[in-house]
Amino acid sequence: MTKRAAVIGYPVAHSRSPLIHGYWLREHEIEGEYVRHEVKPEQIDQFLNNFPNGNFVGCNVTLPHKEAAARNLAAATPVVRALGVANTLWLEDGKLHGDNTDVAGFLAHLDDSIPGWDRRTKHAVVLGAGGATRSIVYGLRERGVETISIVNRSYERASLLVQEIKIEANIAGFDQVETLLPSANLLINTTALGMKGQPQLEIDLKNLKPEAAVYDIVYAPLETDLLRQARERGHPAVDGLGMLLHQAVPGFERWFGVRPKVTKELRALIVADLEKDARK
Ligand SMILES: NC(=O)c1ccc[n+]([C@@H]2O[C@H](COP(=O)([O-])OP(=O)(O)OC[C@H]3O[C@@H](n4cnc5c(N)ncnc54)[C@H](OP(=O)(O)O)[C@@H]3O)[C@@H](O)[C@H]2O)c1
Repeated sequence: MTKRAAVIGYPVAHSRSPLIHGYWLREHEIEGEYVRHEVKPEQIDQFLNNFPNGNFVGCNVTLPHKEAAARNLAAATPVVRALGVANTLWLEDGKLHGDNTDVAGFLAHLDDSIPGWDRRTKHAVVLGAGGATRSIVYGLRERGVETISIVNRSYERASLLVQEIKIEANIAGFDQVETLLPSANLLINTTALGMKGQPQLEIDLKNLKPEAAVYDIVYAPLETDLLRQARERGHPAVDGLGMLLHQAVPGFERWFGVRPKVTKELRALIVADLEKDARK
C-alpha cells in the first residue's frame, strides 16, 4: 500500500517540504506520497487525536501547530519535552510519537560546514528569541558551549525562553551587540530580520574576531546581507538552507524506512525554487 505523509500547517502552501521529500521518494524509488495538508487552528487537536485512524503514516508540523503537536503526543522525545514544540510525528504501535528535528538539523549543518566548531566555541551570540531560537540554544547547550548570549528586541520574550527551556544564558539588547562580539566564536541570526519582506538586520561585524563563524538561519534569500558581510570580511559563513534540509532527514527515515542524504542535487533543486520565488 502507498505510504502517505504530509506537512500540516495553516497556511501550508509556502512549505518546501513536499519538494524535499518528493525528491527523496523519487531517488529511492519508493512508492510513497508526501502532500501539503492544511489544518485550521480550531481543528488541530481533533486532527491529531484522530491521527491513528487517518491515512497518514506521519507528518511534519509547521506554524502555528508545533505547540499543539507537542501537547497531543502519546510519546515525545526528550527534546520535545524540553522545548514544548514538535515538528515531526509518526505512528508507532498505533500511537502518535513526536520529535523536534530542528535541533538535529541545525547541528548537522553546522558540523558539515565547520567540522570541529564545537571544540572552538566557548561563546555563542544568538540574535533572536523566537520559536526557532529555542532549538538553536538547546543544540548549543547539548554540544557544551559554555556561554550563550541571547540578544533580542523584547527582553521579556528572551527571559521567558530562558525560563521555559531551563537554560543558563545572558540576555542582552541590540545596543549591547558591539560589546558582546569581541569574545564571540559564533554569531547566529535566528530573527526574521533579513528575510524576504522583513527589514534588514543592521549589524556591524567590525568587532568580531576573524576566525569567528557567522550562521544565518534565514534561507530566503539564501545569501542574506549578514552572510554577504561575513564572507566579505573572511568569516566562515553558514546559510540556513542546510538546516531546513537536514531537519527533514529523520522524518523521511521514520515514514519510509530509508535514511536519505542531503546531496548537492537536492540543495540545487531547492535553491532553484528559492530563486524562482525571489524573482516574483
Ligand atoms: N533554516 C531553517 O530551517 C529555519 C527553521 C525555522 C525558522 N527559520 C527562520 O528563522 C526566522 C525566525 O523564525 P521563528 O519561527 O523563530 O520566528 P518568530 O518565532 O516569529 O521569532 C521572530 C524573532 O525575530 C525577531 N524580530 C522580528 N522582527 C523584528 C524587528 N523588526 N526587529 C527586531 N527583532 C525582530 C523577534 O523579536 P521579538 O521577540 O522582539 O518580537 C523574534 O526574536 C525566520 O526567518 C524563519 O524562516 C529557519
